[in-house]
Amino acid sequence: MRHEHIISAKQLSRADIEEVLDHAAEIAADPAAYADRHAGKLLGLLFFEPSTRTKMSFSAAIKRLGGDVVDMGPVEYSSVKKGESLADTVRVVEGYADALVMRHPSEGSAQMATEFVDVPLLNGGDGAGQHPTQTLLDLYTIRENAGLDDLSIGIMGDLKYGRTVHSLAHALTNFDTHQHFISPESLQLPRSVRYDLHEEGATIREHTELEEILPSLDVLYVTRIQEERFPDENEYREVAGEYQIDAATLEAASDDLTVMHPLPRVDEIAHDVDATEHATFFEQAHNGVPVRMALLDLLLEGTR
Ligand code: NCD
Repeated sequence: MRHEHIISAKQLSRADIEEVLDHAAEIAADPAAYADRHAGKLLGLLFFEPSTRTKMSFSAAIKRLGGDVVDMGPVEYSSVKKGESLADTVRVVEGYADALVMRHPSEGSAQMATEFVDVPLLNGGDGAGQHPTQTLLDLYTIRENAGLDDLSIGIMGDLKYGRTVHSLAHALTNFDTHQHFISPESLQLPRSVRYDLHEEGATIREHTELEEILPSLDVLYVTRIQEERFPDENEYREVAGEYQIDAATLEAASDDLTVMHPLPRVDEIAHDVDATEHATFFEQAHNGVPVRMALLDLLLEGTR
């Protein structure tokens, strides 16, 4: 891996992505072969926002490589509550670990933190910014289920605040994909993201209705409305509950449609979808372990 830190999907070339996904597939085929690979290595967990999948799958990944975690734990029990700066916290914690995963509510915080650390730092989500390791497991899942080239993907829900969307959309520009963005007008892609996608020559279309595009999609990537990022509760209430799908909605889709979601879901995918052939979101979440094992293995390689 030519990168020291993983901060944004924008830094990842097609070759970088393929290196991680190919390695993840090797690991998934024979995980036991990697059980002692990073024995004694410690991954520092700095989660300043709630997390289930990202934190637990990173923990599982380092442990399945023979290592362990050191966890800051909930913010309310850390020195952040005493007024410690993020820069001081990361400077201290890098001395306790061989790599760090950080999630923080401020966009740009992961990039800023790299200025204070020498160990690899992985961005586990910075506000509404980026979530590049989620993107790698999303790409792995897409590759397994639909293939990454000649792909028609619909990305639906909160495109404004959804960091998984911003990262995924950018990473997909490395492949031959048609990206369809489906959202209420108030939650369309931020101008900066749309600009970046155009700069990369991406083919994108924006829609307010799923129906008009659903039959042509290979993948439908549904996202949660990011309630915690709305400056105004009323604005959230206006859009909450829009853009839900259920098994009946999917009758208009191709039989091969892969339905994904980074999870957690609230009400945007009804539970009757779970039993359909389309549902791929739990498999997607499980892919977080081999993909994060691959990424950690590549980043820690030189430190063995
Ligand atoms: C996502 C996140 O934190 O951005 N969760 C995850 O890591 N799988 C999506 C979300 O919270 O909606």
